[in-house]
Amino acid sequence: MSEARVEPTQRVTVRAPAKINLHLGVGARRPDGMHPLATIYQAVGLYDDVTVTDAPAWSVGLTAPIDGVPLDEENIAIRAGRALVAHHGLDLAARITIAKGIPVMGGMAGGSADAAATLLALDRLWDLQTSDEDLLRIAGELGSDVPFALVGGTALGTGRGEVVTPIADNTSVWWVVVLSDEGLSTPAVYQHFDQVTPDAAAEPPVPQALVAALADGYTDEVGALLANDLWPAARDLRPDLVDVEDQLRLLAPDGVLLSGSGPTLLMLHEDVEEARVAVADLRERGFRCTIAPGPVAGAHVVTYA
Ligand code: C5P
Repeated sequence: MSEARVEPTQRVTVRAPAKINLHLGVGARRPDGMHPLATIYQAVGLYDDVTVTDAPAWSVGLTAPIDGVPLDEENIAIRAGRALVAHHGLDLAARITIAKGIPVMGGMAGGSADAAATLLALDRLWDLQTSDEDLLRIAGELGSDVPFALVGGTALGTGRGEVVTPIADNTSVWWVVVLSDEGLSTPAVYQHFDQVTPDAAAEPPVPQALVAALADGYTDEVGALLANDLWPAARDLRPDLVDVEDQLRLLAPDGVLLSGSGPTLLMLHEDVEEARVAVADLRERGFRCTIAPGPVAGAHVVTYA
């Protein structure tokens, strides 16, 4: 055995992806205020990097200032850290630093990505060896989209979105992501959904045709089957999105989608050159947009020092 001193881990960085919902089927509001979902998640290549270091007290910071991200106990990353140490009955704390690449309040689950990344990063920093089952359960208690950020790829989401089952996806696509200068509140969109959809089903059906098209790798069919039940509510709350949507449909009649509860809009491309041409065209018209590949991996360690 070597006599060399083994230094404790100082710093772990985990990268977690944004998500989109290829299908977002929303049912009638449950007694607990949440909505039953039948959704197909896909992780796409926009990322937040979360770095954790051991510290005497919990704190969170951003590598660059961004409006709309709370920097106190309200931040979901701190709530994730506290939930993990509580699960293990420990009294530990950390400094959490987030480099945001996922749009804030864009309907792409940036906060959920931060929570998932924090859980994984702290588990590795302190070598807690939390089981996958426990990590997913803690993630589900933090937010409906957090378990999927751990899993990544393409998956069916049921319950309120927290029950995640990976599915076969043989497509490999490029999303043109059209950003909005103003965010949209997820609770507000769900609340408006209740008003405009009084006949919502108790249990939304699983979109079997889309599941089959993904397994078969039929991108055109996937494009034609994209659906989001929150779209009418988001359009009501943000009428300016209708014009953006119309312009996108001129470029891609099939394959335009509202991301989650919005306001980010998406356009599907199988060919990256076509996606690049669309981005150049949209930028010329004054839109803020970028390209993200899908599907990509869930939260994973990128630096361990
Ligand atoms: O679970 P999460 O914290 O991401 O949810 C944020 C808000 O979105 C909830 O407080 C609720 O208003 C709404 N929501 C919902 N039904 C879901 C998921 C989210 O009503 N399945």
